[in-house]
Amino acid sequence: MDDQSGVFSRITLGRRSVRAFLPNAVGDDLLRQLLQSARQAPSGANLQPGSFIQVRGLARERLSAELVAAFRAGQQEVEDYAYFPKPMPSLLRRRQVAAARALYGALGIAREDRSARDGQFERNFRFFDAPVALLITIDRDFGSGGYMDLGMAIYGLMLAAEAEGLSTCAIGAMATYPGLIRRTLGLDEKETLVCGMAIGYADAAAPVNATRTTRCALDEYFRVIG
Ligand SMILES: Cc1cc2nc3c(=O)[nH]c(=O)nc-3n(C[C@H](O)[C@H](O)[C@H](O)COP(=O)(O)O)c2cc1C
Repeated sequence: MDDQSGVFSRITLGRRSVRAFLPNAVGDDLLRQLLQSARQAPSGANLQPGSFIQVRGLARERLSAELVAAFRAGQQEVEDYAYFPKPMPSLLRRRQVAAARALYGALGIAREDRSARDGQFERNFRFFDAPVALLITIDRDFGSGGYMDLGMAIYGLMLAAEAEGLSTCAIGAMATYPGLIRRTLGLDEKETLVCGMAIGYADAAAPVNATRTTRCALDEYFRVIG
C-alpha cells in the first residue's frame, strides 16, 4: 500500500468491506449523522439524486425471507440498471476473480464448493445480519450522471461510518431483485434499486472479515498527457 499519512488517509486505507458484525446497536442519532455526511456530497446542479431507506423490524425480516426464498428457488429478474460491462474484458475479469478468491479464501471455501458459495451469497440478502440495513434507490429518470453523484454520497456515508469506528458493506446483490423489493416494501415503480448497505460494528474474530483486496498500480489508473 502507498505510504500515506494523515487522518483522511487512515480512514480511506483503513476501510474495507465488512461482512460480519457484532450485535451492538447503532443509535438513530449516529445513523442520522452518517447520512448528513452522505448528503454533503457534491452533485451536478445540486440535484442530490437518490434516497436511503432504512429497513427495520418485521419489514426487514419479511424482505430477507422473500429474497432468500427467491434466491434458493433460482428466480431471476431483469435488473433495473446494468452494472458489469458485457462482455467482461479480461483485465476486469481477473480483478473480479481476485476479489472472489480473497473472499472465499478467507472463508476457506473451495472454488468448486457451490453450496458453500451460495450460502455466503445468501448472506447478502440478510444484510450480513448487520444492525443497520439500508436500501439505496434513485429515480428511474436519472442517467449515468445521477449514479455518479449518488456514488459519491454512498462513499461519503462509508467513510463517515469508518471515522466513527463503524464498518460497512455495499450490497449490489440487492439490485438483482428490484421488483421483489419494490413489491415487498411498497416502493414506487420509479424507484430504481441501486444497492443495499450493511452498517455496524465489525466482528474482528469472524473469518470473513479477514478478506483483503488489493488495488491496481497508480499508473494503471492515472496518466499525464502533455
Ligand atoms: C456498489 C458496490 C456493490 C457491492 N456489492 C457487494 C455484494 O453484493 N456482496 C459483497 O459481498 N460485496 C459487495 N461489494 C463489496 C466489494 O466486493 C468490495 O468493495 C471490493 O471487493 C473491494 O474490497 P474492499 O471494499 O474491502 O476494499 C460491493 C461494493 C460496491 C462498491
